[in-house]
Amino acid sequence: MMSMGRAFRVTLFGSSHGPEVGATLEGVPAGTPLDLARVQQALDRRRPVGRRLATKRQEEDRLVIDSGLQEGCADGTVIRGHVANQDVRRGPYEQMRDTPRPGHADYPARVRYGATADLSGGGIFSGRMTVGLVFAGAVAAQMLEPQGIQVASFTRAIGSREGQVRDSMTLDEVREGSSRNEVGCPDAEAAQAMEADIEAARREGDSLGGIVETLATGLPVGLGEPFFDGLEGELAHALFAIPAVKAIEFGAGFRAARMRGSEHNDPFFYDGEKVRTRTNHSGGILGGLATGMPLVFRVAVKPTSSIAKSQETVDLSRHEGARLVVTGRHDPCIVPRSVVVVECVTAAVLLDLMMRGGFYP
Ligand SMILES: Cc1cc2nc3c(=O)[nH]c(=O)nc-3n(C[C@H](O)[C@H](O)[C@H](O)COP(=O)(O)O)c2cc1C
Repeated sequence: MMSMGRAFRVTLFGSSHGPEVGATLEGVPAGTPLDLARVQQALDRRRPVGRRLATKRQEEDRLVIDSGLQEGCADGTVIRGHVANQDVRRGPYEQMRDTPRPGHADYPARVRYGATADLSGGGIFSGRMTVGLVFAGAVAAQMLEPQGIQVASFTRAIGSREGQVRDSMTLDEVREGSSRNEVGCPDAEAAQAMEADIEAARREGDSLGGIVETLATGLPVGLGEPFFDGLEGELAHALFAIPAVKAIEFGAGFRAARMRGSEHNDPFFYDGEKVRTRTNHSGGILGGLATGMPLVFRVAVKPTSSIAKSQETVDLSRHEGARLVVTGRHDPCIVPRSVVVVECVTAAVLLDLMMRGGFYP
């Protein structure tokens, strides 16, 4: 299924080299005001243009709303939004039809869908499909804001470089700091080193992965549905749809396995009328429900699979081994462009859970 969410339902359509990519959004109440300029800003953050370190594919990504809006407000029907694919070059993909790229979806997709499926540019497995996710999430973020919920994602690490980000940093500081460099990391010094590492990897015909961290504040205590549809399950389900996301950890994550209960437990205290915790190893989630502390999680993004180095693969028509040098235009590191995608997917999941749990007016 190309859909996520139950109350706020997002369905993706299009493909990398088809005419368009986008999403339909269901569940936005009639009369909800939507600022399309802000949605466009989010789409612009996803674009490679202006980023020295990204793919040379140049897409304008101008959002067109096909239905569901009247005079700046949702009309209660399905909202359909798309952007056109303009800079399509099929040539490099024709050459690779029979020689699947190691690390990309080419091989299993070809076995599953057959040789006639349009997998040019990655087809539906392309990072371009995240346009629809950003559109949906940027709408969701606007709907969450009046409820006091804010989401901010940033680059925590690229390759072996890790940014130092104080726990006390506010969402606004994180946003401001990460908007100052191409990699989206609030630690300016680390960001410089990351940029240099990406550039070096690109020169070597190679690529780098990294970690995107997300903070969300203002979640009502108890947000999340019991058991299977808790906050962790719903977020993981949606975030793993983002191409190249390979792992997720909430709060202390894998470190929790090496801690003692006395160390890992977050002690409660009264902060005025509010119950808070002294530490936040839980990442703001207990039993799948929001504790009211900031939601904190990290996703691992793998290094871009399409690299310019010669790699071992197979020739599916000749049934023999082959070598492949991937041509075409690819990001040497997907992490900086994934930041806004992770942020938007988080907003879409939180809005859906707000609606399902009766927290959304
Ligand atoms: C914003 C974005 C851009 C991407 N750009 C590329 C790219 O230029 N080249 C590439 O090989 N993979 C790119 N990917 C990742 C692939 O789409 C992904 O690795 C592939 O579909 C296989 O899926 P998997 O890595 O989740 O297993 C991108 C992903 C995102 C989120």
